[in-house]
Amino acid sequence: MKALFKPAASPGFEFVTRPEPVPGPGDVKIRVLRTGICGTDLHILAWDSWAAGAVDAPLIPGHEFCGEVVAVGADVRDVAVGDFVSGEGHIVCNTCRNCRAGRRHLCIRTSSLGVNRDGAFAEFVVIPESNVWVHHQLQIADGDARDVAAIFDPFGNAVHTALSFPVVGEDVLITGAGPIGLMAAAICRHVGARFIVITDVSAPRLELARRMGVNLAVDITREDIAVAQRRLGMVEGFDVALEMSGHPSALPDIVANLNHGGRVAMLGLPSQPISLDWAKVVSHMITIKGIYGREMYESWYAMSAMLRSGLSISAVVTDRLPAREWADAFELARTGAHGKVVLDWTEL
Ligand SMILES: NC(=O)c1ccc[n+]([C@@H]2O[C@H](COP(=O)([O-])OP(=O)(O)OC[C@H]3O[C@@H](n4cnc5c(N)ncnc54)[C@H](O)[C@@H]3O)[C@@H](O)[C@H]2O)c1
Ligand SMILES: [Zn+2]
Ligand SMILES: [Zn+2]
Repeated sequence: MKALFKPAASPGFEFVTRPEPVPGPGDVKIRVLRTGICGTDLHILAWDSWAAGAVDAPLIPGHEFCGEVVAVGADVRDVAVGDFVSGEGHIVCNTCRNCRAGRRHLCIRTSSLGVNRDGAFAEFVVIPESNVWVHHQLQIADGDARDVAAIFDPFGNAVHTALSFPVVGEDVLITGAGPIGLMAAAICRHVGARFIVITDVSAPRLELARRMGVNLAVDITREDIAVAQRRLGMVEGFDVALEMSGHPSALPDIVANLNHGGRVAMLGLPSQPISLDWAKVVSHMITIKGIYGREMYESWYAMSAMLRSGLSISAVVTDRLPAREWADAFELARTGAHGKVVLDWTEL
């Protein structure tokens, strides 16, 4: 099969022929249709210090995908050949305390598709049955079903973060209008937030955010978040904030603009320690919660349910290229000016 391959612990990928993966008794083999390019994949391509410490090369990267089931192991019960599916890329141990309590997103031994084992930038991928999410009829009425199904992984990050705290009627601040921040904005709108303010430093991404229904899209190089509050007539600060930039200045910006009792769900991964006004966190009784991955599988249930009840996230996919043009696609993703960039694995 054709695959994008990281042959060694050094920068670059090769587009080569690799052996097809073989499913074990509890596994499902999927013909990959489309894949999303994630910031993680850019790190793996560049082989930066994070990648050097986290990635088990040689391997096939890629963890955001959709496809069609082509084979199932002997013990597979609920997934059938022909099913249209996405896949959860966190493979958990099933035996640690959290796993056994059903809190699989808190597994202490999570292994990641496309990071610790062969991933989805290939014609075929194999994952355990429990990691397969089957899309039943009419579940994705939004835009191009294959594009939307290909980004269920980051969509799930957005859902996990946006639904961490109640947002009905609340004023929500989102820092970072990358693909995940944009989807989080759409989710907060869908579930009934009052004002949604999103920040970024990229004009095209802020323009995308305006199209996704935020009340204000703020370029923080030009305008303060406090000014945005005044423009909306807000006087007490934001109730909920979602950190989705990973930039070290975002969390201090959030804390400076929260109401007393405000809640912060933090998905963005800062690459350095952050200095924070902890006295304010304490005296304003602010809650800060870290978010990793998706809840297995309540985030997935919520994704499908919200798409059925009219949530639209398809505008976040701005580019789709044939898999053979992977280098151009990665370059588009690297600019940080586009939405989600998707590769089509039916065009090799
Ligand atoms: N915790 C997890 O499980 C998990 C999973 C996926 C992604 N992430 C992280 O979540 C974040 C969002 O993911 P993404 O794919 O949308 O990433 P992205 O890098 O495409 O988006 C981040 C956005 O933040 C903007 N930004 C930069 N500095 C900013 C600032 N000071 N204030 C506001 N915005 C600023 C960037 O211009 C960019 O548009 C990243 O940090 C990513 O590493 C975490
Ligand atoms: Zn990802
Ligand atoms: Zn576990």
